[in-house]
Amino acid sequence: MNYLVISGNPKRAGLCFSLMEEVLRGAREGGASVEVLTVEKLERCHVCGDGWGSCRERHSCAFGADGFDAAQEAVRAADQFCFITPVYWWEMAEGLKSFFDRLRRCEFGEHGALSGKQVLLVASPGGTGNGMLNCLEQMDRFCRHTGAVIFDYIGANRWNHDYKRRAVYAAARAMAEGRRAGETV
Ligand SMILES: Cc1cc2nc3c(=O)[nH]c(=O)nc-3n(C[C@H](O)[C@H](O)[C@H](O)COP(=O)(O)O)c2cc1C
Repeated sequence: MNYLVISGNPKRAGLCFSLMEEVLRGAREGGASVEVLTVEKLERCHVCGDGWGSCRERHSCAFGADGFDAAQEAVRAADQFCFITPVYWWEMAEGLKSFFDRLRRCEFGEHGALSGKQVLLVASPGGTGNGMLNCLEQMDRFCRHTGAVIFDYIGANRWNHDYKRRAVYAAARAMAEGRRAGETV
């Protein structure tokens, strides 16, 4: 099982990073082979072709040489995912949003690379705590557009991350061990 963590976090320490470490530990201890994809340095969508772009037919980005092609390949090779991001301005971090804007166009619908694959959504609003639901909802919409199956939604803030850290570990581990959304435990 290939478990891919797609991170919008520009930092290599702090709340969001520590949550990601727990996701990685959970997936690994559940038996998955684990990788992290960081996307915050990729360019945004050029919105070419009068808005439709060639991506709709070609399922690839005309400007993918910036690293997007390699990132898309990693998504195609993965069996399961965690999308994890700090909450910025009540939303996912800008780099992750840019990547998802491009990926959604290439992998839209039931024939796309994410279709039927499970995803754990993790948002960390580390300031006021505001925007958690909005951010999770934004990632939820991406999953609906690409046919990804949401395994769980976890929001962790400054005053709950002790027990939410345990939750992200447990969720990633359960996924890696083969639990499917919809099963009764
Ligand atoms: C530009 C910017 C916008 C932010 N907006 C929010 C926000 O809307 N809600 C919130 O709770 N925290 C907000 N924060 C704080 C981040 O969510 C916090 O840095 C992050 O969750 C995780 O903490 P970490 O930086 O220790 O990983 C913002 C931070 C930045 C840099």
